[in-house]
Amino acid sequence: MQYGYFDDERREYVITRPDTPLPWINYLGCEAYFGIISNTAGGYSFYRDARLRRLTRYRYNNAPYDLGGRYIYLRDADSGKFWSPSWQPTRHELQNYECRHGMGYSIIGAEYNGIEARTRYFVPLGENLEIWQLTITNRRTAPAKLSAFSVVEFCLWDAQDDATNFQRNFNIGQVEIEDRVIYHKTEYRERRDHFAYFACSEKTLGFDTQREAFLGPYRGWDNPKAVECGNLSDSVANGWAPIGSHQVSVELAPGESKQIVFVLGYHENPRDQKFDPQGSQVINKRTVKPVIAKYLKPESADRAFDKLKAYWESVLNICRVDTPDVHTNRMVNVWNAYQCMATFNMSRSASFYESGIGRGLGFRDSNQDLLGFVQMVPARARERIIDLASTQLPSGGAYHQYQPLTKRGNNDVGSNFNDDPHWLIIGVAAYLKETGDWSILDEPVPYDNQPGSETALFEHLQRSFQYTLDRLGPHGLPLIGRADWNDCLNLNCFSDTPGQSFQTTTNKEGKIAESVFIAGLFVLAGRELAEIASRRGLKSECERYLNEVQQMDQTVRKYGWDGEWFIRAYDDFGNKVGSKECKEGKIFIESQGFCSLAGIGLEDGLAQKSMDSVRKYLATDHGIVLQQPAYSQYYLHLGEISSYPPGYKENAGIFCHNNPWVIIAETRLGNGDAAFDYYSRINPSARESISDLHRCEPYVYAQMIAGKDAPTHGEAKNSWLTGTAAWNYYAITQWILGIRVDHDGLRVAPVVPGSWRGFTATRKFRGVTYHIEVIREGTGNHVELIVDGRPVEGDLIPVPPEGTTDVHVKAMLRAAKTAVRS
Ligand code: GLC
Ligand code: GLC
Repeated sequence: MQYGYFDDERREYVITRPDTPLPWINYLGCEAYFGIISNTAGGYSFYRDARLRRLTRYRYNNAPYDLGGRYIYLRDADSGKFWSPSWQPTRHELQNYECRHGMGYSIIGAEYNGIEARTRYFVPLGENLEIWQLTITNRRTAPAKLSAFSVVEFCLWDAQDDATNFQRNFNIGQVEIEDRVIYHKTEYRERRDHFAYFACSEKTLGFDTQREAFLGPYRGWDNPKAVECGNLSDSVANGWAPIGSHQVSVELAPGESKQIVFVLGYHENPRDQKFDPQGSQVINKRTVKPVIAKYLKPESADRAFDKLKAYWESVLNICRVDTPDVHTNRMVNVWNAYQCMATFNMSRSASFYESGIGRGLGFRDSNQDLLGFVQMVPARARERIIDLASTQLPSGGAYHQYQPLTKRGNNDVGSNFNDDPHWLIIGVAAYLKETGDWSILDEPVPYDNQPGSETALFEHLQRSFQYTLDRLGPHGLPLIGRADWNDCLNLNCFSDTPGQSFQTTTNKEGKIAESVFIAGLFVLAGRELAEIASRRGLKSECERYLNEVQQMDQTVRKYGWDGEWFIRAYDDFGNKVGSKECKEGKIFIESQGFCSLAGIGLEDGLAQKSMDSVRKYLATDHGIVLQQPAYSQYYLHLGEISSYPPGYKENAGIFCHNNPWVIIAETRLGNGDAAFDYYSRINPSARESISDLHRCEPYVYAQMIAGKDAPTHGEAKNSWLTGTAAWNYYAITQWILGIRVDHDGLRVAPVVPGSWRGFTATRKFRGVTYHIEVIREGTGNHVELIVDGRPVEGDLIPVPPEGTTDVHVKAMLRAAKTAVRS
């Protein structure tokens, strides 16, 4: 069953009933001011950092699930009836309910008793504010007399403190009201130089800023006393819970419409100009007033909206495809690219599953995310790389996470996740291939943000590589540390105390447990680094790296191969993990996918065997599970992985993030049908018709789909902020469709299903637009290119002469001469 449909033309997902299985959300903002918004207007806003600068309150894990948001109430003066056009929070039955989630905006509304009301929510480019444009239309035959009420609940900035420190927080809330604008200024009197504001375009009948005055005792958002009575009481918050609510009277003739604009925003003042007059406690509003005045005008709001549309148009035009598969088209052209921008902005910090409090930007996560967004925002990708590398430690290791506001490494989580450093090499290589901007390698970048410690970025990469060489285990495989990509395979933790963190508790020496996955990653990163070194003229460096890679490849064959598949790891006792010798967890996806995609065993059949085992033991209709058989009990020596009930998360869930590794490995083996088949199993659009089972949004990937051991096999969880976005985008565009960026130019090397007659694509790359037409003339993947009318050897498009703007490429697919892709 479906809860809506894709409007591909408008790049929107249209939800047609409010009671979706879970809240289906969207993101507002793409620079510094952000919001999360659900299909019933739930969610919250923040400036840069969802933990440290949260503007509005949201209560996670509430009942009903999604409560707290950007709410509007309408009240009919004659009948006294009131309702919310976004359904929540009153949940009255509505007609023509629709939520259109688009690129950086959402339009939510419905009809009730002949009154239609729809609100368009978005964040203008370059501003730290959000606009709500509410349009009310009277569809009755008689005039209508209504009141419209807005409401937000302010968060006292630090979301963690706000949800825990009540003995203080019930005393500090402060507001100011001037010219109908509500200013939230808690802690502005002391160390904060920022405040929030909530303004309304119309003359207001009243306001409320004290939550309990608005709701009334023992009432919730679904039944506020003030709305029921039809009057706000001009309450002023002193402590307790500051809110912002305006009341506007709306009289409409039959057929008449009226627009009301609300603006919610964030503003900072220089510390020495905080107050006006100086010496008073009144906010200096000189610089904020013009901004508010501007965006309360519907024309300015419309203009800002058009600019936002144009921005997304240009971003999404970088890679466009037209394939025989509608799900591929809409994911590549719209939603997967859009999700990659969300993971760029949010990393794993703020969604309806990530509270915005726990995790800042992950080193491993953000480096991998680069694979999905570098082509859309190259300049910001460069900045992100420098920020990430600045948190690297002198040893080459890395803080696992950093806080986006301070850009400092997070000490609570620390380092020693031994895969982390290699992802920096992968991220930088992706940046270089996309942009050709080699200057980044000479950029001076500090370690642990310590001034004076700067070296060229290139040296950071060298130290990343060396980090593993300094930490090899008894078999010559990389030591795993606290965990590798799989945060939950904690082989040095041995935790028997409830509440201990599996990631930070380490009570084994860490000199025995090894990771075959990191070995695969080392091989891939080592090849990238060798290539970079060689292009910098460092011949012997390059050779050294390739020797180490070769050595690791041998070690994996010797100690990392189990006969039919790659072993996953060695535990602290030196026993195999992910081997036929194990009782449970005999085969894992990570080492199959990553070793094969890195090229280990591509030529001599090991990779193909590994893929055959994936198909035999791990593949399900809903995607590929992480391991089998699932752990049926807790194993002290394996850690968090065995803490999850079978079929969920890392314990044999379908962890979508690593499915594309298998997809890429299949393309490297020339298996287009297998690759596309796996791709389609987890493509959210292809799962739209089973929304009752899938439950998460059909327009974005979720981190996890419950595996075959779970009672809810096929149910997705943790949508939006997942490495799945970048990896799947990378897998479909660069490996299946085969439009692949490389140091010397763009390749066209598709490995698509045998049944496809072909496809077309346009790709902007280093200032040139490539118009690509792929035509199948035979059964295989062998490519013959015709570039601007001339045949070209191989699959690399030669760099066009200076000044070229467009290049036309025809690629003929024929029977394969060689199966294996380099
Ligand atoms: C989460 C983490 C990621 C990790 C994965 C597997 O997605 O953000 O860093 O690799 O889980 O444990
Ligand atoms: C949990 C999650 C995993 C995440 C880790 C670190 O173990 O399952 O996905 O990466 O926590 O926060």
